[in-house]
Amino acid sequence: MARILVTSALPYINGIKHLGNLVGSMLPADVYSRFKRARGDEVTYICATDEHGTPAELAALEAGMSVEDYCTQQYEVQRQAGEAFGLSFDYFGRSSSAANHAMTQHLAEALERQGLIEERVEKQVYSVTDQRFLPDRYVEGTCPHCGYEKARGDQCDNCGRLLDPTDLIDPYSTISGSKDIEVRETRHLYLLQSKMQGRIAKWVAARPLWPSLTKSIALKWLEEGLRDRAITRDLSWGIKVTKDGKPRPGFENKVFYVWFDAPIEYISATKEWAQESDKDWEALWRTDKGADDILYVQFMGKDNVAFHTVSFPCTLIGSGEPWKTVDLLKSLNWLTWYGGKFSTSEGRGIFMDQALEIMPADTWRWYLMSNAPESDDTSFTLETFAGAVNKDLADVLGNFVNRITRFGSSKFGPEVPEGGEEGEAEQALYKELDKRIASYTDNLEAMEFRKAFADLRAIWVAGNEYLQVAAPWVAFKTDPAQAALGVRTGLNLIRLFAVLSAPVIPFTAEKMLAVFGQSMKDTDWPKGTAREELSRLAPGTKYTTPEVLFQKIDDDMLEDWGEKFGAPR
Ligand code: MF3
Ligand code: ZN
Repeated sequence: MARILVTSALPYINGIKHLGNLVGSMLPADVYSRFKRARGDEVTYICATDEHGTPAELAALEAGMSVEDYCTQQYEVQRQAGEAFGLSFDYFGRSSSAANHAMTQHLAEALERQGLIEERVEKQVYSVTDQRFLPDRYVEGTCPHCGYEKARGDQCDNCGRLLDPTDLIDPYSTISGSKDIEVRETRHLYLLQSKMQGRIAKWVAARPLWPSLTKSIALKWLEEGLRDRAITRDLSWGIKVTKDGKPRPGFENKVFYVWFDAPIEYISATKEWAQESDKDWEALWRTDKGADDILYVQFMGKDNVAFHTVSFPCTLIGSGEPWKTVDLLKSLNWLTWYGGKFSTSEGRGIFMDQALEIMPADTWRWYLMSNAPESDDTSFTLETFAGAVNKDLADVLGNFVNRITRFGSSKFGPEVPEGGEEGEAEQALYKELDKRIASYTDNLEAMEFRKAFADLRAIWVAGNEYLQVAAPWVAFKTDPAQAALGVRTGLNLIRLFAVLSAPVIPFTAEKMLAVFGQSMKDTDWPKGTAREELSRLAPGTKYTTPEVLFQKIDDDMLEDWGEKFGAPR
């Protein structure tokens, strides 16, 4: 049994997340956590909302609420949406928690003791009209690299380059729109990442298992040379800057930069979880307290990789304290909305709450994971979603369950029937399943989700093909015992499908197991051969006929949704 810590990138608090955010971090982390738990590993899956920084302040401003109230409200919205989607967090925290204030201040002070923090006077964009500095997203202007006219102070959404507000051409305030902007001096804390170059390069080199997308991003940053970075901002909402546990002189109107405190929340949230559930958080995070044998796996979209392969490790390693750092890092590309951008600020695409208003969680989970944007960006369309639901889920899986339970109970009563002799049809099924289950398990282990779910689909198909060949409805007329074997194998397939499918479609898996009065809690991942797995339900086991598992999507629904969500034609 392994001990595994899983974290997924913390979703920004600025509104409910869209399907692209979901498949970019939280959903794959959930699928992986469920898979590992089913295999008997001890998994702790931690996530939280990312509540500081200009996105939170701007969204609160727009909602006409105080930023505290806005965050509390939106935290609850996101927590509920996560639950409705079956995201099996062991703890879902908030980066604005007291625990995170304390941990962030602690780490900054530890870094300072290691000689890695310096106060520097820098030039920042100041709005005369608003009488304040305009960090990050409070200022927009033209990107000096690509000429995009709505580049934000921290990053250009068009070319993806990280920016400094003073880089922008023709800057304007996003608070007032004012162009009355000056560059003024202000004092900030800098984390001296340049001094960490050697240590981070060595640490990255010691992680041979990172997938290529992750590794290439980390190496690119190292090649360009780590740059010292400001870890404070001229803002009021956030974590106050301290020295020796007291307010730091000259920093009364400043807070830590959101990207400094957000990843630290992985630790703080674990601490809160442990306090609430009487667990040992240090055994997950301190290598001197047992975390040396933890497997730590992170999930995130590709835009977050640099922060997790360079910046956050700088914080942890630079502190001089024995913190656990990431072992495996799964990064995903973008899910696009018909080839364009999903956008929270422009409300484009489908958001988690809207998705569940029209179709159940498992249909989205299946579609998103079987089309996960792994090697490339993937385009979401309602048509491909309908295809995945109608074909894979309704025709292949749902129909199988329905057909076998109905036929079986009508001919043999509500118990798994006895009799029949295994022949070629069964042998062919066992052979295919042995191969596919091994491949499926390996692919989940490697977090190759598209490949894994192609295997799972093939497993469902193998069950259907078996039924075609065994044809118990034909056999019943001449050889009822042979038909009983077909039904018994079919019923056992339902149980096996449920166990294998539970990581991706957990709600449906429970319904399928409930047919036999079981639940995921009583099952484990297949360890034996397919033949053994398909004899787990002994003759005489009672079962019921479930309602239809998946409703199909028809053209009218597609048309409706296309209009509702403004799908391009
Ligand atoms: N909120 C960030 C985003 O959505 C991710 C933060 S990840 C963390 O891009 F590690 F910093 F928390
Ligand atoms: Zn640009």
